[in-house]
Amino acid sequence: MPKALITGITGQDGSYLAEFLIKQGYEVLGMVRRTSTINFDRIRHFQDRVTLVQGDLLDQVSLLNILEEHKPDEVYNLAAQSFVPTSWTQPVLTGEFTALGVTRILDAVRLVNPKIRFYQASSSEMFGKVREVPQSEATPFYPRSPYGVAKVYGHWITINYRESYDLYACSGILFNHESPRRGLEFVTHKITNAVARIKLGLDSELRLGNLDARRDWGYAPDYVRAMWLMLQQDAPDDYVIATGETHSVQEFCEEAFRFVDLDWREYVVQDERFMRPAEVDMLVGDPTKAGETLGWEPSVTFGDLVRLMVEADIEALKRNARVPHLDYA
Ligand code: NAP
Ligand code: GDD
Repeated sequence: MPKALITGITGQDGSYLAEFLIKQGYEVLGMVRRTSTINFDRIRHFQDRVTLVQGDLLDQVSLLNILEEHKPDEVYNLAAQSFVPTSWTQPVLTGEFTALGVTRILDAVRLVNPKIRFYQASSSEMFGKVREVPQSEATPFYPRSPYGVAKVYGHWITINYRESYDLYACSGILFNHESPRRGLEFVTHKITNAVARIKLGLDSELRLGNLDARRDWGYAPDYVRAMWLMLQQDAPDDYVIATGETHSVQEFCEEAFRFVDLDWREYVVQDERFMRPAEVDMLVGDPTKAGETLGWEPSVTFGDLVRLMVEADIEALKRNARVPHLDYA
């Protein structure tokens, strides 16, 4: 039975990847950091089918010990400070987790067992002020946030360790991917949660920042499949994973409100607080290489993604699930 370690298993992608790997017949280890209250909401429904181990990307010894004791065949490094605005308010911490954390885990792999196959969660945020449209594996980076800068470091250190130590290390340059498990601070879930609340009479407005920003939004379960495919090839490589379609934040709002028969213009208010010091105006990926080499393609359209997220939020509110309202994001 192959064994995989997932850092960031409590996050959106970690939870979907764990479920996917269990179905593929893997023994799954999930690294969790110590918190004063348990935050296992996304993994509770399959917690009895994974082994949770305590560790932190800030702590090298914890990473070495986990690899030595549990001997995984594959490591998926998904843990990061992943919210772009927080990277301006906590730039050093973001660099520690999201940049140097990658070196810590790569070094642990190199020292404990260089045969481990390694996946790094790189990001389309690295393209930032885009140099070409659409963005492919060959597009130069121009990050626009401390988060993007940290991800560029993580991307290149992964390639450097592959070339220096002959590791099977891959970097997946994933464009935005969403789901009902997305953190509420990210714009898609912020919108669908607000639409559900407004429809059910629990809220009356939705305050957003830049409505013109464009993203290539896909469905998270499709994207974790691509991570696994990258580690099953003859040779390690880097891949763009995207839908190839771009939509604005406004278009996302239009679609989400339309689904519940409401007009977005009556509820959406632009608020300076949610504007960023430097913006990534437009992302759209070219997933040709992933299609040709991995046989990967997305299965959920933009319209379906919006609708499944609105439906899930309405269902959650009807079940009285406590969906917190966030004021800072
Ligand atoms: P997420 O929901 O924010 O999850 C992040 C995970 O990292 C959580 O499990 C978190 O644990 C863990 N973590 C944070 N700091 C850690 C540390 N110091 N040590 C150990 N664990 C730590 O992110 P996601 O959307 O699943 O994304 C997964 C990865 O893909 C991230 O690296 C993200 O930057 C990258 N990415 C995401 C997208 C996207 O659109 N979702 C696109 C491109 C790349 P807690 O639960 O304890 O906070
Ligand atoms: N969060 C948020 N809140 N974003 C808003 C808002 C708002 O109120 N109003 C407008 N936006 C715009 C942002 O300015 C940005 O241009 C866009 O919506 C998307 O923002 P997020 O959903 O926060 O995602 P992101 O693109 O910054 O980052 C996500 O995708 C990256 C891949 O490109 C994260 O998942 C990153 O971790 C990931 O690497």
